[in-house]
Amino acid sequence: STVPAATRRLDPDADGLAQAAALLRAGELVAFPTETVYGLGADATDPAAVARIFAAKERPRFNPLIAHLADGDAALAEGTFDDSAQRLAEAFWPGPLTLVVPAHAGTRVCDLARAGLPSVALRVPGHPIARALLSAVGRPVAAPSANRSGRVSPTRADHVLDDLAGRIAALLDGGDTPVGVESTVVACLGGVPRLLRPGGITRAALRDVLGFDPADPEAADADRPAGPGMLASHYAPRARVRLDVDAVGPGEALLLFGAGRPEGHEHARAVLNLSPAADLAEAASRLFGALRDLDASGAETIAVAPIPADGLGEAIRDRLARAAAPR
Ligand code: TXA
Ligand code: MG
Repeated sequence: STVPAATRRLDPDADGLAQAAALLRAGELVAFPTETVYGLGADATDPAAVARIFAAKERPRFNPLIAHLADGDAALAEGTFDDSAQRLAEAFWPGPLTLVVPAHAGTRVCDLARAGLPSVALRVPGHPIARALLSAVGRPVAAPSANRSGRVSPTRADHVLDDLAGRIAALLDGGDTPVGVESTVVACLGGVPRLLRPGGITRAALRDVLGFDPADPEAADADRPAGPGMLASHYAPRARVRLDVDAVGPGEALLLFGAGRPEGHEHARAVLNLSPAADLAEAASRLFGALRDLDASGAETIAVAPIPADGLGEAIRDRLARAAAPR
């Protein structure tokens, strides 16, 4: 075995972007900011490069990756967009939406990135650094969140290095990612589009564009992979997570939202508030960093106060439920 090379931290200026693009084109791994979370990028057309993602993350190979593209035209070249997919792409790209569509026979996204599925997950991110990088690479870039598999997703450069230093060639440091939860994943594979993962685009926003509600992940459609990445336990900090608490136990860390205070809150080992003003967008942007910070307090358990389920609350509660799931 070889000693891993040091991971280079690159500034997102012209020189850093050129270096990052050159590394990706050479088959290396480069982490970069998107508006949702940091992605762990590799050339999606190169199976050897994509294999490095699965190795660095220790991610099971049955879980397919999202291919990131510089613009909608580049995305249209990889898959077949039905009427719903076209409308969603038009409304939300560039932005925190991933569309799972039937892959074109000639798609450049390799089989390994798609986990052998006949579909392909496509996303045009809105973050200016991601867009500049994707334009410079000129190929689809596969990018899962830049954390070790099953861990909390990274929303700042130091989170990436905590998990992946020495395992990746470089990291573009773009500061904090603004949305803070991953993209909404919608499958458009025939029939009613299915919401596979709630995320940065809310269910209500999807409904406004489609004119109807998206279907559940399990609903029948033409192709129907059962949302391979929807593993029950995910986004897990080291500590146990307890949801919707109305009382804090001894030694527990406490994650608050808004003005409510569970019983015994004054005895919590550590306390963070996702949004004192009860703003769900602010709460989403702070969620993963807060879980990492409360984990670092050494508490055995993170107790989480109730968070509303509307708007971005659906994605926040989804991530917390996975963090709380039995491992
Ligand atoms: O915001 C995001 O989406 C971030 C940033 C980096 O873009 N990426 C991300 O990737 O969250 P990842 O790999 O952590 O999540 C991708 C999700 C997984 O749940 C995976 O199972 C699903 O997309 N997915 C990918 N291809 C699919 C396919 N063909 N069919 C169904 N689900 C698919
Ligand atoms: Mg992930």
